[in-house]
Amino acid sequence: MRHFLEIAEWSAPELESLLNLAVHLKLEWQSGGNRPVLGGKILAMVFQKPSLRTRVSFQVAMKHLGGDAIYLSPDEIGLGKRESIPDVARVLSGYAQGIMARVFAPEHLTELAAWASVPVINGLSDASHPCQAFADMLTLFEHFGALRGLKIAYVGDSNNVTHSLGEAAARYGASLRVASPQGYQMSVEAAEHLRGMGLALTLTDDPKAAVEGVDCIYTDTWTSMGQEAEAEARRRVFPPYQVNADLLRLAAKHAVVLHCLPAHRGEEITDEVADGAHSLIFQQAANRLHAQKAVLARLMVS
Ligand code: CP
Ligand code: NVA
Repeated sequence: MRHFLEIAEWSAPELESLLNLAVHLKLEWQSGGNRPVLGGKILAMVFQKPSLRTRVSFQVAMKHLGGDAIYLSPDEIGLGKRESIPDVARVLSGYAQGIMARVFAPEHLTELAAWASVPVINGLSDASHPCQAFADMLTLFEHFGALRGLKIAYVGDSNNVTHSLGEAAARYGASLRVASPQGYQMSVEAAEHLRGMGLALTLTDDPKAAVEGVDCIYTDTWTSMGQEAEAEARRRVFPPYQVNADLLRLAAKHAVVLHCLPAHRGEEITDEVADGAHSLIFQQAANRLHAQKAVLARLMVS
């Protein structure tokens, strides 16, 4: 059974083909609608954390492909609390042809996948966000026409989004510079893992050095879901890492700005940059739909 738990579990040729499928499905949708390749199929969506983009884009993607999706809120299932993960996985496998889950602990995804008899998709965990990274690659591909050799700088908290961005950059042949403050940098193990995938990765605490001449500046919230108690402490540390017009000027003239959203405007990104001419953030958000259609079709068409 194939799952979409981490970008690293998919080879470069598989991801190349998945990207082509996403481009094709987007074009197909824009030319009048998708073929109902998931007709009659159901995606169960399990959420332990809030969501706008992931929830809506998966639900709409299933509808566009002829199927449907069922949203299960954090309180409803009580994953691992009201009912064990192996039991939830086996019950949902009896009703649905795929499971998408957003969880805190990444082990909960691997446990779901181990017990489910249908494909499981990672809709974000504390450790990774592969659907986001894949949609980001689609966005950069549409804009630049190629991914190989692109220089990406990620500025801010080294988090789940950074990790999957690194895996995607490795697989598609882009390079990544990450600028995070001391104490919020990528772990040695994570950096080793990404370099082991062949990623040209530079880690620094200097945002200006990181963005110099890059094709893309990427940022994300300073405080991820589940870290709310640290928000005040983080607000004191992160302001030098704000993506603003001064920082953007150091990137290549043609540079684009990405943010997975939700944005905390005035913190990690200014309105001027988020809404400015270099920003692709809403195309990026929209591409979650098209990218995930490809993932769903690849995993669930039998
Ligand atoms: N970017 C993203 O995953 O957004 P949501 O948390 O709203 O799903
Ligand atoms: N790093 C953020 C991403 C949200 C889509 C979080 O985990 O809250």
